[in-house]
Amino acid sequence: MKLILLGAPGAGKGTVANMLSDIDGSVQISTGDILRAAVKEGTELGKQAQSYMNAGDLVPDELIMGIMKERLKEDDCKNGYLLDGFPRTIPQAEQLKIMLEEMGEQLDAVVDLAVPREVIMDRLTTRRTCTQCNAIYNVKSKPPKFEGVCDECGGPVVQRDDETEEAIASRLDTYNEKTAPLAGFYEKEGMLMRINATSSDDVVAAIKEKCGLA
Ligand code: AP5
Repeated sequence: MKLILLGAPGAGKGTVANMLSDIDGSVQISTGDILRAAVKEGTELGKQAQSYMNAGDLVPDELIMGIMKERLKEDDCKNGYLLDGFPRTIPQAEQLKIMLEEMGEQLDAVVDLAVPREVIMDRLTTRRTCTQCNAIYNVKSKPPKFEGVCDECGGPVVQRDDETEEAIASRLDTYNEKTAPLAGFYEKEGMLMRINATSSDDVVAAIKEKCGLA
């Protein structure tokens, strides 16, 4: 399966990508996770990305395209991929289109996860993430078995640095201005699937049906 998952911060892109990856083995590629790992390791990319991320702004397109041009050529992408958080601007989508044409590849669908703003604010302030394996939790709907400890790898489960109320508001504004127009871009390409994403199970069922998965 080759999918793009669109949606506001907290719409559930990471959660849905994770569930789909378990079902058909497509690799989940989250530009947010790649950037957070770079920040944690203190690489040059991490140093350049950190201030944008903490302020809730987008990292410049050139940095993101540099990452994705290499990432999509890796062997694990041959079985399919779930793009979580990429593309996020029209220039990224245009460059991805050229890249896929050059690679002779086609996407199965672009899924736009629609969730009301008040649900998003609630989800993001209650989300917790494992800093080691990126597993996603929620103190209300999906807490880890032991507080602060990842069920999957035993790593620390914490709140992300961009989860302050100020950064969340800025991320939502950035999404509305720069990322929401991608739905129109992919609608014109005839690839857009809009899904009410209040329940992740419904989203996964709808995508499985569209992509012909059992
Ligand atoms: P990124 O990590 O991609 O953040 P985001 O898009 O803001 O998305 P989130 O990870 O916050 O949310 P999500 O939709 O994955 O929701 P989740 O599944 O966790 O990017 C971070 C930053 O990196 C950006 O701000 C930017 O600076 C930079 N960046 C990344 N990619 C970039 C790019 N391409 N270009 C430029 N800059 C880039 O779910 C949220 C919570 O809700 C969880 O607690 C979960 O358990 C819960 N939940 C999910 N679904 C449900 C449900 N159905 N019912 C109940 N709870 C649910």
